[in-house]
Amino acid sequence: MDHIVFKLNGIEHKADGRYSPDFTLNEYIRTVADIRDTKVMCKEGGCGACIVSVRASSPPTHEIKTFAVNSCMVSLFSCHGWDVRTAGYIGNSLMGYHDIQKRLAALNGSQCGFCSPGWVMSMYSLYESNPKLTVAEIENAFASNLCRCTGYRSIADAFKSFAIDAGDDIKQKLIDVEDFGSFKCDKKCKEGQKEDENESMWCIIERAENIPIVITGDGFKWYRAINLNDVFSAMGNGEYKLVAGNTGQGVFRIKEYPHNIIDISNVTELKGFDIDVNLILRAALSLTEMMLIILKLSKENEDFSYLKELWDHMDLVAHIPVRNIGTIGGNLILKHANNEFQSDLFVLLEAVGGMITIAEGVGRYSIMSLMDFLKTDMNNKVIMNVLLPPLSKYCILKTYKIMPCSQNSRAIVNAAFLFKFHHSSQILYKMSIVYGGISPHFVHAVKTEMALIGKDPFTNETLKITLTSLSEEINPEVMETEPSVDYRKMLALSLFYKAILSLSPDDKINPIYRSGGDVIKREVSKGNQYYDTDPSIWPLNKAIPKLEALVQCSGEAIYANALPKLINEVFAAFVLADTTPGSIISDFDTTEAFKIQGVVAFYTAKDIPGKNTFTPSNVPLMTADEEILCSGKVLFNGQPAAIIVANREFTANKAAKLVKIIYSVVNNNKPLITIDDVLKSPDSKSRVINNDSIKPSNLGNDVKHVVKGEFKTSDQFHYYIEPQTCVAKPIEGGLEVHSATQWLDLANVAIAQCLNIPVNSINVIVRKVGGSYGGKITRSAQIACAASLVAHLQRKPCRLVLSLETNMRSIGKRLPTLCNFEAGVDGKGVIQYLKNTFYQDNGHSINEVIVPLTVNHFFNCYDTQRWEIDANTVLTDKPSNTWCRAPGSTEGVAMIENIMEKIAYEIGQDPMQVRIVNMIREDNPLIDMIDQLKKDSEYDARMNEIEEFNKNNRWRKRAIKAMPMKYDVGYFGNYNSIVSIYHADGSVVIMHGGIEMGQGLNTKVAQVCAYTLGIPLEKVSVQPSTSFTSPNTMTTGASIGSECVSYATKKACEILLDRLAPIKAKGSYTWEELIAEAFHEEIDLQASYMYSAMKNEVKPYAVYAVCILEVEIDILTGNHNVKRLDLLEDVGRSLSPMIDVTQIEGAFVMGLGYWTQENLIYDPLSGRLLTDRTWSYKPPGIKDIPADMRIYFCKNSKNEFGVLQSKGTGEPALCLASVIIHAIRDAVRFARLEAGHPDEWLQIENPCTVENIFMAMEHKIEHFKLM
Ligand SMILES: Cc1cc2nc3c(=O)[nH]c(=O)nc-3n(C[C@H](O)[C@H](O)[C@H](O)COP(=O)(O)OP(=O)(O)OC[C@H]3O[C@@H](n4cnc5c(N)ncnc54)[C@H](O)[C@@H]3O)c2cc1C
Ligand code: FES
Ligand code: FES
Repeated sequence: MDHIVFKLNGIEHKADGRYSPDFTLNEYIRTVADIRDTKVMCKEGGCGACIVSVRASSPPTHEIKTFAVNSCMVSLFSCHGWDVRTAGYIGNSLMGYHDIQKRLAALNGSQCGFCSPGWVMSMYSLYESNPKLTVAEIENAFASNLCRCTGYRSIADAFKSFAIDAGDDIKQKLIDVEDFGSFKCDKKCKEGQKEDENESMWCIIERAENIPIVITGDGFKWYRAINLNDVFSAMGNGEYKLVAGNTGQGVFRIKEYPHNIIDISNVTELKGFDIDVNLILRAALSLTEMMLIILKLSKENEDFSYLKELWDHMDLVAHIPVRNIGTIGGNLILKHANNEFQSDLFVLLEAVGGMITIAEGVGRYSIMSLMDFLKTDMNNKVIMNVLLPPLSKYCILKTYKIMPCSQNSRAIVNAAFLFKFHHSSQILYKMSIVYGGISPHFVHAVKTEMALIGKDPFTNETLKITLTSLSEEINPEVMETEPSVDYRKMLALSLFYKAILSLSPDDKINPIYRSGGDVIKREVSKGNQYYDTDPSIWPLNKAIPKLEALVQCSGEAIYANALPKLINEVFAAFVLADTTPGSIISDFDTTEAFKIQGVVAFYTAKDIPGKNTFTPSNVPLMTADEEILCSGKVLFNGQPAAIIVANREFTANKAAKLVKIIYSVVNNNKPLITIDDVLKSPDSKSRVINNDSIKPSNLGNDVKHVVKGEFKTSDQFHYYIEPQTCVAKPIEGGLEVHSATQWLDLANVAIAQCLNIPVNSINVIVRKVGGSYGGKITRSAQIACAASLVAHLQRKPCRLVLSLETNMRSIGKRLPTLCNFEAGVDGKGVIQYLKNTFYQDNGHSINEVIVPLTVNHFFNCYDTQRWEIDANTVLTDKPSNTWCRAPGSTEGVAMIENIMEKIAYEIGQDPMQVRIVNMIREDNPLIDMIDQLKKDSEYDARMNEIEEFNKNNRWRKRAIKAMPMKYDVGYFGNYNSIVSIYHADGSVVIMHGGIEMGQGLNTKVAQVCAYTLGIPLEKVSVQPSTSFTSPNTMTTGASIGSECVSYATKKACEILLDRLAPIKAKGSYTWEELIAEAFHEEIDLQASYMYSAMKNEVKPYAVYAVCILEVEIDILTGNHNVKRLDLLEDVGRSLSPMIDVTQIEGAFVMGLGYWTQENLIYDPLSGRLLTDRTWSYKPPGIKDIPADMRIYFCKNSKNEFGVLQSKGTGEPALCLASVIIHAIRDAVRFARLEAGHPDEWLQIENPCTVENIFMAMEHKIEHFKLM
C-alpha cells in the first residue's frame, strides 16, 4: 500500500506522498480537512489546545481503545487505521452538544474558549476509556491542558461532575444552571454508563489490518513497518529515522527528517510484554500501556510489588496524551541522544537494575545494562525491550521527582533509591542511588553506594557519612534553563534524606521528622462561591454561563485563524534578530531559505510602502514609534527583522530560521537585561527616566524604628493560549483584517499608515480573542501590520501566527520592578515617613509606561500623606514591555504590602494590625471586610492548628496570611455600541467597539440590553466588533471594557425606548407587537451611543478586597501547596455573578503563577530569552491551584459610580496573589528558626520558585538527621 487510510469525524481520508513526514495530524485537520474546531498553540505537547480523541487498535491484542493525543505532534502518516474525532464532531450547534461540552459551558469552565475544545477532547477520551472514574482520578488526568483564563476550578467542577463519587455540591451546581434550556443534559450520564454505549460503536475502520505501507513522496520514503524484518530492510536504504509516538519532538524539536522514516509503532515484536523471571516490556509499548501492566503486576505478584512505586512516579511523567503514544524506546533514545535529558524512565530502570535488549538485526540481540546502552552506538539498531527484575521483599524502592510545578514538567532533579537489605535485617548488602538532572554523565552515586554496603542506613552516623559522601560525589553542571548547581546539589542530598525519613523504623526516627519523607501532594481541590442574586432585576445580576460558552466548547467559536482555507493564501513568519542589541543589520542571506520548496517571498523594512511603525503617534497612549521590522539597529535579541512567506505555516517557520542576517556591526557589549544592569551601567543617565516625584504633605516625628529594604518583582509572559494571530485578506477596495487584537483602532491606523492607504479601506474584524491579558493591546498591531503588508504586496490572503518561541522572544511582557524603601515608624507601626524609590523595566521603548498606575496602587488603602515616592522608568535591551493583567497595580500593591510585612516583622506586631493602623479610615470598608473574612475563614482557629502542625513537623511548615487591597478603577477613552431591533421578530443585535476576549463582555452587554429593554436575553445577540462599525474606539482593557460598552449599550437602548415611548403609550403591546408597530410608523430602530470618559458619565471608583491564604511548604524540596484561599471582593452589584467569580479565580491563579512558578531566564551575553517554550516556562496547571478555593462577594453591595451598580473584576484579584510570598516567607521562617538560624527578615527572591524557597532554608548536612 502506498497511502494510509484513517477516519476523521466519521469520514474516510487517504493520505499519500503529497504530504510529508513533517505534516502533522493537526495541520491536516485544520488546513486540509478545514476543521477549525481543533486549536493549536505550542506544537510541542505542552498546552493541550490541539488534543483530539482517537480510537484505534494496535498489536499484539488489536483491542480497540479510545485515547487522547496531541494532534500537534502526531505525524499524519502515523494515523493509519485511526478513527479521529474532534470537539465539533462529538457535539455542535447543529446536532446538539455533548454532555461534556454542556457541563463545561454550564459551569463556566470556558472563558476565552480557546483551550476548551482541547479540554473537552481530553475528558471525552478519558470518559470513553473508563466511565467509572473518581473525582481524584479525574482531577489528576488533566496535566495535559493549560487554561490561562479560568483558574481551573470551574473546569475541575464540570469534569468532576462525571465522577462516580461526585459530591452533592457539584451536582447542585449543575442543577442550578440547568435552568437554562440549552445547558440541560439531554442524555444524563448515569454512573458507569458510556455515552456512546448503544450507538454503533463509532463506526470505526474495523481493526485496520496491520499491513506494511510505504509512502513515497518528494525526497522521502515513509515505511510503516509491521515486523522487525521490515525495519531492518528499510534501514538498509540509507540515512533513516525511527518514529514511534513522535512525541520526542516535544522535548527536542526535530530539525529535519532524513530521507527514510520508519514507523515502528506497529511492529509486532516491539509490542506487548512477557514475564519469565523478569518482566519484559517491549520497546514500542506506550507509557500508558506500560503503566497498566506494572500496576496490575504490582498487585498480583509480590516480587514485583515495587512496581507500584514506579507507577506513582510514571504518573508524573509528561501527561496522559503524551503517555498514550509516547513509548519506552522513544524515551530511552532521547536520553541516549541527549544525555542531559532528565528521563524519569531511565532513572527508574537503572535504579532497579533493569536491562535493555538491543537488536542489530532479526535474531541478533544483545542484552546490556542501561549504562552500557548509553555508550552503545545505536546506528542501525533498535531497542527491543527492557527487562525489570523481580525484587525480594527485602528490597525497597523510593523514587522522587521534583518539578517547578505539580504536573507536566521535566524534573529539576529526579532520583531513585533501591535499598537491598540482608534478610530480616536493616543492614544493607547493596544500595543503588541514581539521579537525573545533575549533569549529562552523572547517573550513579557510585562511591556512596559502596560506602553504604554493610551499614544500617537508619542511624544518624550513617546518614552523615552518606550525605557527606553524596556531597563530594554530586557536582551538578550548569544547565542554561535549569536551576542553579547549588540547589540541584543540595536537593539531591535532601531527596536521599527524604527516602531515609520515609523508610526509617519508628524507633529510629523522631516522629516530627517523619512527614519529611513524603512529597507534598495537593489534595483533591474544591471550591465554593458565595454571592447573592436579585431575581427582580434578572437577566441583570443573574448567574448565567457565557453566551458563547457552548460554541466555544464545541470549537465552533470564531477566532482570527478560524477563517476557512482561502484561495491562494500564503503564510508568513518573522525572521528574528539573533544577536546582541546594538548590532547593525546590513543585509540578509536568504539562499538556504529559498531552497525549501514552497517559500515564495521575503520582505524587509525596505518593502514597507508607508511608515515602519505599529505604534503610530496619532493613536492615544502611543508615545514612541516602534518598528514593525528592524531597519538597522537591533534593539533586542529576538526583534522581528524580516518576513518570510511560504505556502505552509510550517515551511514559513522553518525557512525563517534559515535566513542568515548579516550584521555590519556586532555589538560586543553585554546587553543590559535587568534594572540593576542599567543602574550600574555608564548609560544609566540616558536610560533612567524620572516619571514622578511625590513629596509628603506632612511627616510624623515619633520614629521608633527604621525599616529599610529592597524588593524586586520579575516579568511574566501573558501566555494566551491563542497565539498572536492575524489573517489579512485583500478585498475590493482594501483589506479585511482578522486580527487577534484588543484594539481595533490601533490595528486599523497602524496598518493604514504602514501600507500608505486610507484608514477607511481596512476593516479590522474581531469576533473574539482567545485570551490576551493585555498582551494583545498594542503588540498585536505589529502582527497585523506584517500580515497586511504581505497581503498587500502579494495581493493574496496572508496568515501570520506567531510560533510560541517567536512570540515569547519578540513580544514584551509584564514590567519587572525594583524598589528601595525606607520607613520610619512608631511603636505600633504607624508610618512617620516613607521613602520609596522604584524603577520599572519598560524594555527598549518608552511606550506603555505604567508608573502612574503603580504609584496609585502603591498607595493601596493607606493614609499616604507622609509618603515620598520617586518613580522611574528604565530602558533595557529587551522587547518593549507591555500591559499584563493588572499592570502597575500588581507591582504597586506588592511593593507596599511587602513594606507593611517588613514593618510588622521588625517591630514584632501582627502584620494586619500594622496595616490597619496605617489605613485611611474614611469610606474604607476594608476593616469590616477583614473581620468578616477572618470569621468566615476561621482564621484564628486555623492559626492555632497551624502552630500545632508546625511544632510536630520539622520538614513541613504551614503559614496563613491575610492581605487587603484597594484597586482603583479609572476610565479613559471611548467605546461605542450600536443597538438594532429587527421589525420581523423584535430580535436585537448589538455591535460595539469592545473586544470579547474571555472576560464575558458580550454576555454582560447582552444582559444589560435585555434588562434595559425589558426583553428576554434570548432576543439579544452580540455580533463581531469591526472597525467599520466601531471606528476610533479605545482598547479593551483595564477591567473597564465590559462596563463602558455596557454603559454605551444601556444609553443606546434608552434612546430606542424614548423613540418607542409614544407608541407604547397608545396601548398594551407585546415587545414584538410594539416593534412591528414602530416599524410601521417608520421609527428608527437602530441607535448608537458612544461612551466617553470625558463626559464623566461613569466615575472612577475603588474595588476593595481581602484574601486569606494558607500554604504548606515541603522544606526539603521547596515545593508548596496552597491549602486554602478565602477571597472576599466588593464587586458592587455584579452584572453577571458567575462570570465575575471566574474572572476573580482566573486572575488570582495567574497571580499565583507569577509569584511562584513563572521564570524568564535571559542569556546574559546575547540577551536572548532562553525559557521560550512550554518545556521551560511553567504557568500554573490544574493541580497548582488552591486545594480549597472560596470566593465571596460582599453582601448588598452597590456602586453608585459604576454601570448599573457594578464593578470591574477582570484584574483586581491578581494583585492579591502576592499574599502567597508572605505566607511562604513565614513558613520558611518557622523552619529556619528550628534549624537554629537567627530570626531575621527573609527576602526570598521573586518569583518564589521551588529553588528560591529551598535555598532560603540554607540547609546544612548536619540538619538532616533522624533523632
Ligand atoms: C510534553 C511532554 C512532556 C514530557 N515529560 C516527560 C517527563 O516528565 N519525563 C520524561 O522522562 N519524559 C518526558 N517526556 C518525554 C516522553 O516520555 C517521550 O517524548 C516519549 O517517551 C518518546 O516516545 P516516542 O515513542 O514518542 O518517541 P519518538 O518521538 O517516536 O522517538 C524518539 C526517538 O527515539 C527513537 N526511537 C523510538 N523508539 C525506538 C526504538 N525502539 N529503538 C530505537 N530507537 C527508537 C526515534 O528514532 C527518535 O529518535 C515528555 C514529552 C513531552 C512531549
Ligand atoms: S498545540 Fe499541541 S499541545 Fe500545544
Ligand atoms: S478559557 Fe482557557 S485559556 Fe481562555
